[in-house]
Amino acid sequence: MTASNTGRATVPGARTAGITVTRRDVTAGLHHLGIASGDLVFFHSSLKSMGHVEGGPDTVLDGFLDAVGEQGTVVVPAFKLTERIGPFGSWYDHETTPSTVGLITETLRCRVDAVRSHHPTHSVAAAGRLALAVTAPHRAAFGRISPWCDAAFAHNSPFDLLARWDAWYVLLGVSFQVQTIMHYLETMLVDAVLRRATESDRPRLMASVRRWGGEGIWPAPDRTRLGEALCARGVYARSTIGQATVYGARFQSVLLHALRLVMDAPQAWLANEVVTWMGTPLNPARVLAEYTAPDGAPPLMIPAASYSCAGRSRDTQGKPVAQESLG
Ligand SMILES: CC(C)(COP(=O)(O)OP(=O)(O)OC[C@H]1O[C@@H](n2cnc3c(N)ncnc32)[C@H](O)[C@@H]1OP(=O)(O)O)[C@@H](O)C(=O)NCCC(=O)NCCS
Repeated sequence: MTASNTGRATVPGARTAGITVTRRDVTAGLHHLGIASGDLVFFHSSLKSMGHVEGGPDTVLDGFLDAVGEQGTVVVPAFKLTERIGPFGSWYDHETTPSTVGLITETLRCRVDAVRSHHPTHSVAAAGRLALAVTAPHRAAFGRISPWCDAAFAHNSPFDLLARWDAWYVLLGVSFQVQTIMHYLETMLVDAVLRRATESDRPRLMASVRRWGGEGIWPAPDRTRLGEALCARGVYARSTIGQATVYGARFQSVLLHALRLVMDAPQAWLANEVVTWMGTPLNPARVLAEYTAPDGAPPLMIPAASYSCAGRSRDTQGKPVAQESLG
């Protein structure tokens, strides 16, 4: 498989014409990964990657819902990644702001039985038994600092709950570059370092972390390289739907193995200043156990306001700061 920066994966030799994908093909491809009735599944997607899908994005969603059955739940990103200009959150209307991460995700967001979580950059949309449970707490989530504000991947955010409930993490026809799960891992890593620090050292460490629109350190291991390494270790199972390659693994397996890779050789994955900031590498199994315990790792910080965001929203000339590049 080759991958481009657009996040689209291509299968060498695959023909672009002549393949028609049905709802049953989608379900069969997911069952082949190991997904079963009652499961909780999060997926990133490219509609076009499969070939011609009979019935379009709704067919894909119905295929996913069939794969998990009435007791299961399907979750997709409904992120707003473009035209984020002005004070944090001002670009986001919970009811009307479209998802910018694919037609399948936007189609789910617009379904009458779907629920969207409330967040200006990293909302998700869900349908099925746990739809409300996964999405509702996002608005009140807080306590883990990140460049996307303290709620994005915080305690009780959708990604936090998906990790705690060990959901399936699926990539449908997209490259490893789109693995947003790595942002959850990064946030967990930063939080774990701050949690481990002494009371007297914590403010200094916290002040160095990059916030929305600001400067600072942030651990950002190469997601493509991490995905390939996880594949090589057999963490991701592989399947196909039409001409698309599908990868799937449990959240906790991805997180544990990615944490191990990064902590075994921090210099190979993280910038020097991040390695220095972190100090002694974290223990991956201990970190994962803490964050995926039934109640999760409790929030370290109390927010000043909803979406508590300590970054800049205007540049030095007073113009709004655009945040196009943060995925
Ligand atoms: C960017 C991305 C969405 C593009 O994938 P895509 O397949 O080109 O786009 P969509 O999934 O929105 O589907 C629309 C495409 O499907 C095509 N399409 C429409 N109906 C179709 C059908 N019945 N069957 C197949 N394709 C169809 C459309 O023509 C359009 O292609 P075009 O732009 O070439 O005209 C995808 O590569 C990706 O990265 N997805 C993951 C995004 C994500 O989750 N990011 C997380 C943070 S990085």
